Amino acid sequence: MRRPLVAGNWKMHGSRESVAQLVQGLLSEQVGEGNVDCAVFPVAIHLSSVLAQVAGSKLSVGAQVCAAQSGQGAFTGEVAAEQLQDLGCKAVLVGHSERRQLFAETDALVAGKFAAALRAGLTPVLCVGESLAEREAQQTEAIVLQQLRAVIELCGAEALRQAVVAYEPVWAIGTGLTATPEQAQAVHKVIRDEIAVHGSEIAAQVRIVYGGSVKAANAAELFAMPDIDGGLVGGASLDAKEFAAICRAA
Ligand code: 13P
Repeated sequence: MRRPLVAGNWKMHGSRESVAQLVQGLLSEQVGEGNVDCAVFPVAIHLSSVLAQVAGSKLSVGAQVCAAQSGQGAFTGEVAAEQLQDLGCKAVLVGHSERRQLFAETDALVAGKFAAALRAGLTPVLCVGESLAEREAQQTEAIVLQQLRAVIELCGAEALRQAVVAYEPVWAIGTGLTATPEQAQAVHKVIRDEIAVHGSEIAAQVRIVYGGSVKAANAAELFAMPDIDGGLVGGASLDAKEFAAICRAA
């Protein structure tokens, strides 16, 4: 049985004060207690303070991005996966659609970042998903599989044991348009079946979470689907009570 995971991607939101208040709210809601793993992904400059604040709780902390280069070196502006691990992070998002679209991250670069995260002992949360135009052109499966295969080719399918996959249809992100549970389930099954080609045991184990306008009102029906193992939540994760309700739905 896969343990559900609910993760909050805070994107480029929050001041020191508002982040501290949000974490305080999550701790008073006891987010992470119970049969669900909960994680938050603050902006990089707030990682240290959030890690200090959640110490001793069940809430874990990850970063939104890492470098493809390992260790250290002359890479101005980048943060290495090892540095995130050293700080206390457990996971890192790789290949979020905003990174792919706005910051030109290719499948190959995303795979390189996935590999860097693994080398540092972090859990890469590999985000995949199609745009509206791609869905309308019946390209959903091809796009998602292409994104997944780039990682499997570089790192091997075994690497997915240490990873989480997040299916985030781009047209559902920040739009209020959620994929229906059936639409999401269909793609999650495509992803799991593709992993099963390399090993049914790996496929049975890997958590595949859904992202795209998840909120308390729609979380339970999404999480009830057989191949949906939780959620990657954007906007609704900035409200402690709402995020706590989503975690309870998992
Ligand atoms: P929203 O929940 O705001 O649609 O964002 C989803 C997302 O991009 C999480 O990574």
